Amino acid sequence: MYVCLCHGVTDRQVRAAARAGCESMRQLGRKLGVGTQCGRCTRMARDILRECKSDSHQALATLLAQPA
Ligand code: FES
Repeated sequence: MYVCLCHGVTDRQVRAAARAGCESMRQLGRKLGVGTQCGRCTRMARDILRECKSDSHQALATLLAQPA
C-alpha cells in the first residue's frame, strides 16, 4: 500500500527503512522523502514506525525471556 503518494513510497519501504535503523520521521524524510512535500503521509508513516519499534521491542523481550 502506498503511504506517500508524493514520493511513491509504500509501507514495505517504510518497514524496510525502520529495520535498517530509521527511528524518526526526520530520518525517514531524509532517506525516502516521506513527509517532505505535502505532509499528508506523516501520520501513517509515524504509525508504521511506531509499530515496527514495538514489534522489535516485543521480539527482543521474547528472546530475553527464553531460558538459556
Ligand atoms: S504524501 Fe507524502 S509528502 Fe505528500
